[in-house]
Amino acid sequence: SRVVKLAVIPGDGIGPEVVAEAEKVLDAVTAGGDVRFDKTRFSLGAGRYLDTGDTLTDDDLAAVAGHDAILLGAVGGVPGDPRLKDANIERGLLLKLRFELDHYVNLRPSKTYPGSVTPLADPGEIDFVVVREGTEGPYVGNGGAIRRGTPQEVANETSVNTAFGVERVVRYAFELAERRSRRVTWVHKTNVLVHAGAIWQRIVREVAAEHPDVAVDYLHVDAATIFLVTNPRRFDVIVTDNLFGDILTDLAGAVTGGIGLAASGNINPDGAFPSMFEPVHGSAPDIAGQHRADPTAAILSVALMLDHLGLGTESLRVTRAVEEDIAARTGAARTTPRIGDDIVARLQA
Ligand code: NAD
Ligand code: IPM
Ligand code: MN
Repeated sequence: SRVVKLAVIPGDGIGPEVVAEAEKVLDAVTAGGDVRFDKTRFSLGAGRYLDTGDTLTDDDLAAVAGHDAILLGAVGGVPGDPRLKDANIERGLLLKLRFELDHYVNLRPSKTYPGSVTPLADPGEIDFVVVREGTEGPYVGNGGAIRRGTPQEVANETSVNTAFGVERVVRYAFELAERRSRRVTWVHKTNVLVHAGAIWQRIVREVAAEHPDVAVDYLHVDAATIFLVTNPRRFDVIVTDNLFGDILTDLAGAVTGGIGLAASGNINPDGAFPSMFEPVHGSAPDIAGQHRADPTAAILSVALMLDHLGLGTESLRVTRAVEEDIAARTGAARTTPRIGDDIVARLQA
């Protein structure tokens, strides 16, 4: 029988609440099967930092990297908490994991399920995937500030875009489109960000030439937000840089059924490092501890993980159970554990 070494990072706020349900579902779908998940729990996040001063030590990183996959809830404290140094959890923990483990594809599917509640009047069936670049762009932290606190203060943030980095994520997007509806929309802001835009444009053209059966179109990111609301069915695969992808995927989550359903995978397609699966949402300090978080995004992230690990049957069973749960929703509030239990019950039915 196969053993999968899984690193579990529950994190902060609603992270542990939704991960508990995701683990319930993972345990249920693998019970009695040939694959066993051998889990190691890591205490990482704002809570750990406030207790010990550590974010992600070299030992933590090495230990996490020694696993086959990672399941993460959410990390981060209350925005603006003065006890947390600027972005030390976001940069020093979450982005450090994505960068060090070379998660260059941040895969964020958006889909409406029968029964999902969308704010759009008549969206029809939405089904697209955002391929968000995960290791470059404005996220690299190549910036600096001088004369802090004076009227002459200057702050710079640099967006780093390498030919290598752009090409590998664009290739992934076209290959994904070949297995879907063969449409790629690349999103940028080439009318203003001319240098980064030029490298993206050249590489998209080159890769597109190798995929003559894939239709390609381009949108400036501001216009893309319009179409995500007015005509989301025009999208199949969206490929974009790290920051645009961050913003578009919260919007995509909101229009397709709420951020509580939006799953993601931080993928290292080469398999050199473990990939990391997590809901798109954060630690939601406004509802933490109240058992009000929807664990579905975390549970669908488990489905993405199972698929990535070659466990397609198990992945499909989880997705089906979630689809049934969404279809049966009445609008009545359920607690986080109740949603997890209901999905487990459907798995076992
Ligand atoms: P957030 O996603 O945590 O919350 C935004 C809104 O969505 C809140 O009203 C919240 O209650 C709601 N929400 C989020 N998840 C939900 C769920 N499963 N069910 C129901 N409602 C849900 O975004 P934020 O408030 O900007 O960030 C809070 C903290 O989380 C920050 O420290 C931020 O840096 C961090 N963060 C972490 C991750 C991650 O770990 N991957 C992602 C995003 C934000
Ligand atoms: C996300 C989050 C992170 C990001 C933050 C917390 C660093 O918003 O996973 O979408 O910007 O990528
Ligand atoms: Mn985000």
